[in-house]
Amino acid sequence: MIYLDNAATSWPKPGSVTAAMTDFLERAGGNPGRSGHRLSIAAGRIVYDTREALAEFFGIGDPLRMIFTLNATHALNIAIQGLLQPGQRVVTGGMEHNAVMRPLREMEKRGIKVEVVPAEKDGTLSPSAFAAALEGGARLVVVNHASNICGTIAPVKEIAALAHAAGALVLVDAAQTAGVLPIDFPTLDIDLLAFTGHKALHGPPGTGGLVLSDSFDPALLNPLVRGGTGSRSEYEVQPDDLPDRYESGTPNGVGIAGLGAGLAWVRERGLEAIRAHELALSARLRRGLAEIPGLTVYGPQNLELATAVISFTQAGKRVSEIGYRLDDEYEIFCRVGLHCAPAAHRSLGTFPEGTVRLAPGPTTTLGDIETVLGAVRKVARA
Ligand SMILES: Cc1ncc(COP(=O)(O)O)c(C=O)c1O
Repeated sequence: MIYLDNAATSWPKPGSVTAAMTDFLERAGGNPGRSGHRLSIAAGRIVYDTREALAEFFGIGDPLRMIFTLNATHALNIAIQGLLQPGQRVVTGGMEHNAVMRPLREMEKRGIKVEVVPAEKDGTLSPSAFAAALEGGARLVVVNHASNICGTIAPVKEIAALAHAAGALVLVDAAQTAGVLPIDFPTLDIDLLAFTGHKALHGPPGTGGLVLSDSFDPALLNPLVRGGTGSRSEYEVQPDDLPDRYESGTPNGVGIAGLGAGLAWVRERGLEAIRAHELALSARLRRGLAEIPGLTVYGPQNLELATAVISFTQAGKRVSEIGYRLDDEYEIFCRVGLHCAPAAHRSLGTFPEGTVRLAPGPTTTLGDIETVLGAVRKVARA
């Protein structure tokens, strides 16, 4: 079988991830940051080491600004719901996932104005369109680093500069890019970043984080959830200390142990090598798909401007039929439909049918891609 659904979640996970999770349960299974016995301390050490490694990976000086969450959706909700007050304005792009759009639409009901900057047909977001939208001022700009439908990479650095010039904070959704593209806070000059652990960082489901820049003032961000933190137990009010202010309840220690191992795997392999491998695969895949009669392939022509997330449709054929036949007849696993991003599909012109999405990963080979192209060719013909 060939797994091409890495944009949904990466698979297979490195063996070191499974090993780290087993090891956590067997040898460090205490509640991190709660008790003072050695199992609790061992668990706390693993959580802290992972926090520190992630902070370094994202270019953050203070590891306590790396807040663990359940996934990217959770991190985005903490940021969006915690930052905005009625009467404020948010500017976002036309390629957003529902992890951004649904909280924003909810905030609209609470008196927040949401402005969506249209994307081009290939998913490109133009800084000048953001500049125009920012003329009306904004509290926050939220932008998806790379499309989960067609891989288009957003010009985050340019958008962040425009947002700051207009007095807005910048929140980046890095669900599709953490572990694929370099993300350095000082270089991008962003304020908050939501990432997930279960995609290109190769951690397990139930992991992710919200990263706060070293200069971001946490007083601006209300916690979404309040409760036990293991610290300042004498107070009935939520502590202000980081990361406790945003990390109530027992953390997913076993998942965080796996995420730490996933990140170590990514760093060992190197982002440059990961990206080079993905570019080689997506070059062959995009070219091969474009040669199949009747197929439309979405995303930018210039491969450098996209991640290895590729979508196509075929005139006259349902995407569900293509996906079903690839699975049933060829054991090729992909995703079809709207990919939780109706706004982005409207931008690409693929709403409401959606697309067939092929997302190779680090273990996919060029041989796999040839097999996939052969299968798509046959499915497209009959
Ligand atoms: C662009 C984008 N944002 C957010 C999410 C949500 O990520 P998670 O599943 O970690 O909540 C996804 C996942 O599909 C995504 O692709």
